[in-house]
Amino acid sequence: MKLIAGNSNRPLAEAISSYLNVPLTQASLKRFSDMEVFVEIMENVRGEDCFFIQSTSFPANDHLMELLIAIDALKRGSARRITAVIPYFGYARQDRKTGSRTPISAKLVANLITAAGADRVLTMELHAGQIQGFFDIPVDNLVAGPVFVPQILDEFDGEEICIVSPDVGGVVRARAMAKRLNASLAIIDKRREKAGVSEVMHVIGEVKGKVCILVDDIVDSGGTLCNAAVALKENGAKDVYSYVVHGVLSGGAVSKIEASPMKKIVITNTIAATESVSSSDSVEQLSVAPLIGEAMRRINEERSISALFK
Ligand code: R5P
Repeated sequence: MKLIAGNSNRPLAEAISSYLNVPLTQASLKRFSDMEVFVEIMENVRGEDCFFIQSTSFPANDHLMELLIAIDALKRGSARRITAVIPYFGYARQDRKTGSRTPISAKLVANLITAAGADRVLTMELHAGQIQGFFDIPVDNLVAGPVFVPQILDEFDGEEICIVSPDVGGVVRARAMAKRLNASLAIIDKRREKAGVSEVMHVIGEVKGKVCILVDDIVDSGGTLCNAAVALKENGAKDVYSYVVHGVLSGGAVSKIEASPMKKIVITNTIAATESVSSSDSVEQLSVAPLIGEAMRRINEERSISALFK
């Protein structure tokens, strides 16, 4: 088993390496002077089961290109099997044609990863489950439940909690979480008037006097969650927290969250924390390294991954 880390999230790759007790393979991933990606794997990978760890997070284009070129390097180095470990799969939000002349970027990226030579993909909480079907190679899509649920049970012991989906698209995810926690469910009926701007309309469900926990896959600008938190407080929620898998947190998202009625947002480390994330008292990061590491071990040993979630 060989682990190779891209540049997108070195701390996560190191944590996975230490969980598995397998050192990271020496590799040089740098730039030519014109910023083209240069990759060289410094150790023999012939016949090895190789895992390249790379989130396609900001700067997404650079990290995606690095992923593709590294897969090509491993393929040409005669790796036996190449698993693209993509803790955060970017370019997932255009996953269907929503209008005339719009792309399906997620499908294009799936084609690129497959064409580069990946044999399988290991990822986490895809924006939409059907993205698995955009690949003609096996895709394991881990869920964050095993990381979030124990923390929620511990932190809100004795409270009446309500799991809230911040939009209709996230209902399946929120319902699964509510079921695991034996909690009630509410939904925010959100209307987005134009791209990048979100607007809260109605809260569907009873939230009065309850601790409301917003659950989502991505927090980017923070607009969706902050607007939802305002709506929940206006509807009588006792407190509002958020549990979100991928902390994209671009621009002034952290400041926006700090200024919102949300008490805290809990994210995972699928995306490396920026300085503003690490220094904020309103943002807590939980590690998915043991979960991803265990899934990698099971892929290597040809054992069940679904058993991890039972
Ligand atoms: C939308 O479908 C996603 O699940 C997230 O709710 C959205 O991407 C969050 O974006 P933002 O934080 O910019 O409102």
